[in-house]
Amino acid sequence: MTTNPVFCAIDAPTRDEAKRLIDVVAGAVGGIKLGLEFFMAEGPAGIREVRPTGVPLFLDIKLHDIPNTVAGAIRSVVPLSPAYITLHASGGRAMMQAAAEAAASEADKLGVPRPKLLGVTVLTSLDVADLEAVGQGMEVAGQVERLARLAEASGLDGVVCSPREIARLRRVLKPATVLMVPGIRPAGADAGDQKRVMTPQEAMEAGATHLVIGRPITGAADPAAAARAIAADLGLALDAGAAAPTSPVP
Ligand code: C5P
Repeated sequence: MTTNPVFCAIDAPTRDEAKRLIDVVAGAVGGIKLGLEFFMAEGPAGIREVRPTGVPLFLDIKLHDIPNTVAGAIRSVVPLSPAYITLHASGGRAMMQAAAEAAASEADKLGVPRPKLLGVTVLTSLDVADLEAVGQGMEVAGQVERLARLAEASGLDGVVCSPREIARLRRVLKPATVLMVPGIRPAGADAGDQKRVMTPQEAMEAGATHLVIGRPITGAADPAAAARAIAADLGLALDAGAAAPTSPVP
């Protein structure tokens, strides 16, 4: 079966709420994304409790510290067997290299799959004036490209990017480099606070490898049906009423 590229953003504050959503959508998405809010409140134990066996996990914890500390943080979460972990590319080459080495060696030691590491470039909440204020006085797209190239050259597996950045990054990064893309809205869905959106098909055609989709699934009256409709739009065949997860994303 073609792999399902959709990671459902579970932006829920409590274990109960997260578990309820995950159990409903797990069979119709490629994986789930849990971020800082959940991780800070519930920690690794919370993740173990809410994640069904076999469902790929995107651990969006946006690490940024000195290389030794980030490497240690990566080692601390490898036992959770996340498929993807995020770190800030602006942490620099040595930090990213240390993280990549830690992910590989710890996974090897524990006999679990190596988590793929994704660089966060410029947060979409920042504009050119914000970059200027922190001493990175260049246009946003240029800074995104610079950091994405650095992430790739430092041994990361890919980057998180907005729909507007897919085409430019696809031109300059290796074909195998992961582009994990939030800001996705199925045709007709409410954009909410996302300013520039693409449909799932548009983003995949532009060169995304994975899609992060939250509220269009989790806020739907029937989240499982919403996730299945997105999969169908992407041309993926799901078992009707499937309770088991679709094939994990490689
Ligand atoms: O609900 P929605 O589909 O907008 O959720 C998108 C998810 O991706 C959220 O968890 C959000 O924090 C995350 N995200 C984003 N834009 C970025 C980076 C992450 O929307 N630039």
